[in-house]
Amino acid sequence: PALTGITYWTRIHGTQFVRYELAGRNPLSEQGDRGAWARALFGVDDAHADWLEYEDRTAGVYRAVHVVDDRIENCVFLSARPDLPAREWLASLFAKDKLDEADRIAVLAGQPIGKGADTGPTVCSCFGVGRNTICTAIREQGLKTAAQITACLKAGGNCGSCVPELKKLLVDTELARLSAA
Ligand code: FES
Repeated sequence: PALTGITYWTRIHGTQFVRYELAGRNPLSEQGDRGAWARALFGVDDAHADWLEYEDRTAGVYRAVHVVDDRIENCVFLSARPDLPAREWLASLFAKDKLDEADRIAVLAGQPIGKGADTGPTVCSCFGVGRNTICTAIREQGLKTAAQITACLKAGGNCGSCVPELKKLLVDTELARLSAA
């Protein structure tokens, strides 16, 4: 795509998809109709195309998914913040023969819903505990130490090699909480 104002981009070839990640200091599609912009980006000019779309202009969020024969053909996610959908989850949707109703709702929500929610990249490999699980537990249960995380999730309770990462997540989560307050 012809895009200006981009300060970072990368292209990754996955199984049945190519993913572009772009970042810059200005919104990609600042003005006008983002739906028209996304359709032009993907060359979708059929008014009856299976097209899912969500927009929150105040939050700077836009999501669109083009579905063909019940499979994802293209999708784009824009956000003013670094909170785009999990890569592994999106990749798993491209591997599906058919999107079900829950998948369609989830892509518009920008995250998996219900069962199988994204646990994030693995932090504690001994117990298979993901980053999102740990951060959620820190936030919701007010955990303050790595030992408390271990008591709650087991993470850190075997070889201990993940404990420095647990401590970093404690700090990061606290900083995020303070900056949101
Ligand atoms: S990696 Fe977490 S205890 Fe071993």
